[in-house]
Amino acid sequence: MIFVSNHRKVNIRKLETSDFDALILYFQNLSESTKKRFGPHAFDKQTLIDLYAAPTDFIGFIAIETNTGIIVAYIIIKAGYLQHDSFRLQSYGLTPDHETDCTFAPSVADLWQSSGLGSAMFGYIIQYLKASGIKRIILWGGVQSNNEKAINFYKKHGFRTLGQFEYHGMNEDMIMDLFNLNNTSHKDAKF
Ligand SMILES: CC(C)(COP(=O)(O)OP(=O)(O)OC[C@H]1O[C@@H](n2cnc3c(N)ncnc32)[C@H](O)[C@@H]1OP(=O)(O)O)[C@@H](O)C(=O)NCCC(=O)NCCS
Repeated sequence: MIFVSNHRKVNIRKLETSDFDALILYFQNLSESTKKRFGPHAFDKQTLIDLYAAPTDFIGFIAIETNTGIIVAYIIIKAGYLQHDSFRLQSYGLTPDHETDCTFAPSVADLWQSSGLGSAMFGYIIQYLKASGIKRIILWGGVQSNNEKAINFYKKHGFRTLGQFEYHGMNEDMIMDLFNLNNTSHKDAKF
């Protein structure tokens, strides 16, 4: 999928193993403030190999500037839920479901934030998740309560707050229900 902003064009697609070096560069160029907001995993090559090189529960999506080949956004999705979040999720009365839940962490390069790119990626990913039989999207470790940009982003896209918890400051657990599932075969389109 192509997204255009200020005459700059990016291609949104799934992460492939050949993207790992470009993705490491992306991590290295993130500002400290973005890294404080986004840290689902270590930003080294071995971690990427462990997460993505063989079929696993993880899938990555990237946005690449078409004229430079530079990665400008990265989103990771895990099938199901994080084990260390499950106790908290259950405390809100939720029953986490490994088959139909997924866990989500988005990031956009600093210079591209607030350009609509995160929303474009989210729209693209939603289609993929619906086709995979996913019914709920859970935030990966919640979102920091003072991360106004991200909280606005999630609310705009239909997430609701489940509750708050303390971890290096206050955080919000948020979730989105995916309604209007189409009838694409779930078995054919797994992670
Ligand atoms: C959160 C993030 C993924 C959103 O992506 P984005 O491309 O910046 O967002 P978009 O441009 O698509 O904006 C969508 C909505 O987000 C909110 N938003 C975006 N930028 C904002 C800003 N500077 N201030 C307040 N709200 C903002 C708005 O609700 C906006 O909708 P609007 O344009 O109709 O006002 C991105 O800003 C990011 O990577 N932030 C740093 C890392 C991070 O916080 N990740 C989430 C960890 S939980």
